[in-house]
Amino acid sequence: DWTMAEFRETKIAEIRAQVGNGRVICGLSGGVDSAVAAVLIHEAIGEQLTCVFVDHGLMRMGEADQVVSLFKGHYNIPLVHVSCETLFMNGLKGETDPEKKRKFIGKTFIEVFEAEAKKIGGADFLAQGTLYPDVIESVSFTGGPSVTIKSHHNVGGLPERMNMKLVEPLRELFKDEVRALGRELGLPEIFVGRHPFPGPGLAIRIPGEVTKERCDILRKADAVYLEEIRNAGLYDAIWQAFAVLLPVKTVGVMGDGRTYDNVCALRAVTSTDGMTADVYPFTTEFLSRVSTRIVNEVKGVNRVVYDYTSKPPGTIEWE
Ligand code: XMP
Repeated sequence: DWTMAEFRETKIAEIRAQVGNGRVICGLSGGVDSAVAAVLIHEAIGEQLTCVFVDHGLMRMGEADQVVSLFKGHYNIPLVHVSCETLFMNGLKGETDPEKKRKFIGKTFIEVFEAEAKKIGGADFLAQGTLYPDVIESVSFTGGPSVTIKSHHNVGGLPERMNMKLVEPLRELFKDEVRALGRELGLPEIFVGRHPFPGPGLAIRIPGEVTKERCDILRKADAVYLEEIRNAGLYDAIWQAFAVLLPVKTVGVMGDGRTYDNVCALRAVTSTDGMTADVYPFTTEFLSRVSTRIVNEVKGVNRVVYDYTSKPPGTIEWE
């Protein structure tokens, strides 16, 4: 793609001009955006970049390992992997308010990050994979006074005390363009084609209190769902698909016994930029298969429902 080849060269020149001999630190979230930003910046300034992967324990199944193997194995980009699941779980204890969960995660993420930046002797710049829709959705909402719908912790959340300037090479891009750039940079398809994943991770897919146990249940249900979507060849036709673990228990029957367990909701939408979205119209056969598998294979879930709400009026995530 000549347009992306050109964009890549232009951005590399811009990054070099902005950064000079400075040191850059980049936080990886496990998603496409931060990965593409990091690889692009690494191409521009090589060893002046250090990536920090704050592993909050709120990632999907197997995802943390994929990030580590991509950066260390494939690209040989210096990566600091910080495992701090306990820190995040302790802080989320008892918290049920969606915005407070986001704020805690964003704040803690930055604190861990800052501590790591200090350990490596500081940095002059902070790199982020902010996209164009992130920029506009955080600023205002069409047709009214400026209202924050959801605080996206990866935008504008940089405390002044960190005293770093921002490098955001993807600020003008939409998701499909970031994917094209990722392919141009040689990122593997499994990474480039991956559905968007929010910074606060599974925490905003567990309405109510987040615990490690609930994260583990959700990870399993989500993995079954995504496996079925991939097997059916539908993954690339969907913008985002994920399971949500509801804070509701319902009665069921399994064999001779009565169960009293969690409800899991499935969400799948099509979209071009995440700002509006339509429900993905699965067949009833597909939904029955996923539902049966989740109830049979995931301990802690005895009922599955499908979310049929478009955006607007719904949002893509449940929190
Ligand atoms: P909503 O739920 O607002 O989501 O329709 C739109 C897109 O944004 C993602 N999203 C987030 N991303 N931090 C993020 O980095 C967040 O707090 C956050 N909340 C939602 C969501 O996954 C969808 O792609």
